[in-house]
Parts: sequence; C-alpha cells; structure tokens
Amino acid sequence: MAPKFDLIVINATVVTASDISKCCIGVKDGKIQSLVNAFTDDELVGAEIIDAEGAYVMPGGVDAHVHLCQDLKTGPHGLGGECSDNFETGSRSAVAGGTTTIITFATQTRAEEDRSLLKVVERYNSRAEETGSYVDYGFHIIIVRNDADILENELPVLINDWGISSCKLFLTYATQRLTDSQMLDVMFAARKNSITTMIHAENGDMIEWLTEKLESKGMVAPYYHALSRPPIVEGEATNRAIALAQLIQNPILFVHVGSVLGATNVRRAQTMGLPVYTETCPQYFHLTWDDLKRFHSPTCFENSKMICSPPPPPTAADHEKLFVGLSNGTFTIYSSDHCPFRYDHPHGKPSGVLEHEASMKGEKPCRGEDLNGLLERKGGAFRFIPNGIPGVETRLPLLYTGALATGRITPQRFVELTSTNPAKLYGLYPKKGALMPGSDADFVIWHPEKTFSAFNLTNSMLHHNVDYTPYEGMKFTNWPRYTILRGKVMWANGKITGKVRDGKYVKRGPSKLGPVSPRADRDTHRVADWLYD
Ligand code: URP
Ligand code: ZN
Ligand code: ZN
Ligand code: ZN
Repeated sequence: MAPKFDLIVINATVVTASDISKCCIGVKDGKIQSLVNAFTDDELVGAEIIDAEGAYVMPGGVDAHVHLCQDLKTGPHGLGGECSDNFETGSRSAVAGGTTTIITFATQTRAEEDRSLLKVVERYNSRAEETGSYVDYGFHIIIVRNDADILENELPVLINDWGISSCKLFLTYATQRLTDSQMLDVMFAARKNSITTMIHAENGDMIEWLTEKLESKGMVAPYYHALSRPPIVEGEATNRAIALAQLIQNPILFVHVGSVLGATNVRRAQTMGLPVYTETCPQYFHLTWDDLKRFHSPTCFENSKMICSPPPPPTAADHEKLFVGLSNGTFTIYSSDHCPFRYDHPHGKPSGVLEHEASMKGEKPCRGEDLNGLLERKGGAFRFIPNGIPGVETRLPLLYTGALATGRITPQRFVELTSTNPAKLYGLYPKKGALMPGSDADFVIWHPEKTFSAFNLTNSMLHHNVDYTPYEGMKFTNWPRYTILRGKVMWANGKITGKVRDGKYVKRGPSKLGPVSPRADRDTHRVADWLYD
C-alpha cells in the first residue's frame, strides 16, 4: 500500500499568524494534508519523519524584496554596480535562512529597447531559468516610464499571463524617478488592473541638493551618504505619495521604510483608513549612522559596505521606536531588500567610483586598479557607490534574535510579518504564508531554544556570493534548523540538501490584504467618483 504521507513533522510547536499549538503535520504531494495531535503507527509507515523536538515550526519565509541578476550599469538604481548574486546563489542563501519564496525585481530602464515591460520580464525570467532556483520565486515589475500604450496593453498581460500583481515606482534616483504626474499615470493604470503599487519614497530633489552641498564642503566619504538622506527626505516623500494614493484610491506599499518620521506618516494615514501598507527591513533595526563610520579612516571606503537607501536611522533610540511599529501593525511586512554587491570586485561596491573616474577621462574602467588606493584618493565619493546591502539569509534569524527572543513581538506577529502578510499582500495566500491543509508544505523549523547555543556570525557561514555581511560578529540566538519547500527538505542542520532546480516560478493574484478601495476619505471620494465612473 502506498504510504499515506510523504513527510511527517512530529513534536512541532506550530505557529501561524494567529495561533500557537502543539501538533504534528502530515504532508502529501507537496501540500499540507493534516494537522493532528498524533499520527497512528500505520500512518507513520513509509513517511520521512522529522522530529521538531518541540521547536517552533512556521510557514516558510516569504521575502518580498530581493534584488538578483540586476543589469550592470543600470543596477538597481542606475549608479552602476552589478548584483553579485544570481538566482542560484541568492536562492541558496534564502533557503539557508528559512525562506522558501522570494519576489525579485524585473527592472525596466529608460533605454528605448526597454519600453516593453513584457520584454523586461522575459529577460529576467530567462536569467532565473538559466540557473534555476532553490526556492519558489516571482517578480515585481519596476516601471520607470509612463508610456500610455504600454500601460494600457501590457499591464493586463502581466497580471493575467505572468501573475505579476505588483509594480515598484521611485521618487528618487535620476534614472528611475517619476514626476508626480507620471506617478499618477502609472498608479491609475495599476488600479485598473488590480496591481499593487510599491513606492520607494525618498525626495530626490532634497537628496541632490544636500549631496551638492556636502560635496562642495569636501564631505564625500561613505558616512555622508546618510547625511544626504536625513529622515525628512523620507518624511516628505511618504506624505506626498500618501496624497497621490488618496487621489487614485488604490493600495500602496511603502518599501524599505527606515525612519521614525516615515513610519509616523504611514501610521497617520492608516488611522485615516487609507489603504497604505509598509515594509521595513532588518538594517533599520540593527544599524545606525554610526555604522557608516565603523572603519577608522575618515575616508575609508570600507564603510561603503553599509550604504543603502534609505540609510539606517541616525541612532539606536530610533530602533526602539521602529520596534513599536513592528509590534503594533504599522509595519505590514518585513523583507530583506537583499541587494548584493561585492566589495572585492570592480563591478561591485567600487564600480560607481571607477566608472565615474574612467568616464571623466573618456576611458573604460580598468579592472586591475588598486581599488582601495583609488577610492581613498577620491575620498569615497558616496554619490557613486551602488546602494544596497545583502541580507536574504539573515532576515529571519535577525528578527528572531532582535524581536522574538527579546519579547518585542509575539511568535504569531513574527509569522505575520515574515510570511503571511507578504503572501496576502502579493496575492500568494493561502498557497504560501499559511500552515493549513491544502497550503504548500513550506516550513521553517527552528532549533529547540533549550538546546541551541547562541553563536557569533561570520560571513563565511553564509551562502550568498557577497564577501561581507553587515552583521559580522553579531550574536544570534537561533537559526533555521530545517527549511522545507513543498515537502522537500532543502536545508537541514547546516547543510543544503535540495537542488537548484527545485524552486518554481509562482504566478500571483491581486492583493488579498484589504479592501481595494475603502473610500475612507469623503473629499477624495468625490474626485474618485467622476474619475472612475
Ligand atoms: O539601497 C537599496 N535599498 N538598494 C536597493 C535598491 C532599492 O531601492 O531597493
Ligand atoms: Zn528602493
Ligand atoms: Zn530594494
Ligand atoms: Zn562584473
């Protein structure tokens, strides 16, 4: 007789976004089939059995903000730089950190051949198919133009054929930002197609103005990147985008919110009943402006390793306020914003400066240069340094260590932030983000707390293709012991056990997190009525 289950997890402390219960999980054909107090001896026959030894078992992590294989030069933000992780190395790192689904970015550029969003998606999808992936994956589309014909003709294909139900828009970065009226064009088209708009909310003009001021005073070391983006930069942009969303009456999700001011603005909009959701990331709870001064010399390029936009908040006091937002629901999801640039490679962190230097001389960048020497001479030149830091593997362990183990959030909230809410927001629920019969059997199983010894992280323990981690030396109180993707054990006791072709592309539907148009604001409602009728 065929075994009743392929995989059984016993002695689990199952955590969902709402409940915690002691039970066992039976898996068949990649799906959860039953959750019971105990299985009979007959039911155990033929199944692979994992003893969770009382540890937490949660739905596999859904990381909704991961940059992989982004184009050289255009980079994630047009500053140059080449993502050092492809789908193989990035997904390997994800699975080793308890994540079973990633949503990455297919990035349009302003180049004429990139007018078609469908072509952009095909290009990124072929990169994923080239290597395969250890985890399930999908794409958000980054839109940097407002071509009416493309929005009209291609958004329906993106949602219906590709299952891409989210787009990202920028208010900063010269090569990507949209004006307010261009934003409205895309948000309006997104609304018609039930596509959620993700917004990178930093005021590009403020950044440019401050950058010029800093440069005129010779303040160009990596540290000054943070000073060119004080919290008001995010504060203004969040308020403006909230107003745009109020007019269009379509949900927005602020990506990587890192300031108390940004979080406060979002909270106010949520209290008004507007469909405003927020993502935050580990770097905003574990790094501060001081981390951009970590390495001694005032111009030392080493500090470029910590450059991301928005920057970490100024002080540790901000962390505590942001932790409140994690527990009280201001933040909807917690993603990594994994943006991998190597430090030892001319196309990594140093590339922006090298390319700038070379273009000034009318030359191509020279790979063999003494990078540190060159960059020291240029004083770091933060303007040219690719923005972004790695973190797909450390995302869940950092939240466990910093928020769950310290009692700042409950285990249920942990699941909501890292798995259930991203799955609902991006149209993957209840296939992903749920631990119930019929859902994909994606689990992260932690170590039992009683027997696990805290350890200090080194980059050599990680599985990405990046030569540093911002969290080097940090003490971690737990780490995923098993990661299971659709019933297959992909990571067990410190070893990758799955295959790079095990991950599959996932089509997504519209957001299921809240009403599409709650029409909370009466004045706006009056505008929306004639606009939409
Ligand atoms: O610095 C960051 N966040 N880099 C990644 C690109 C982006 O804007 O998400
Ligand atoms: Zn961004
Ligand atoms: Zn990003
Ligand atoms: Zn390269």
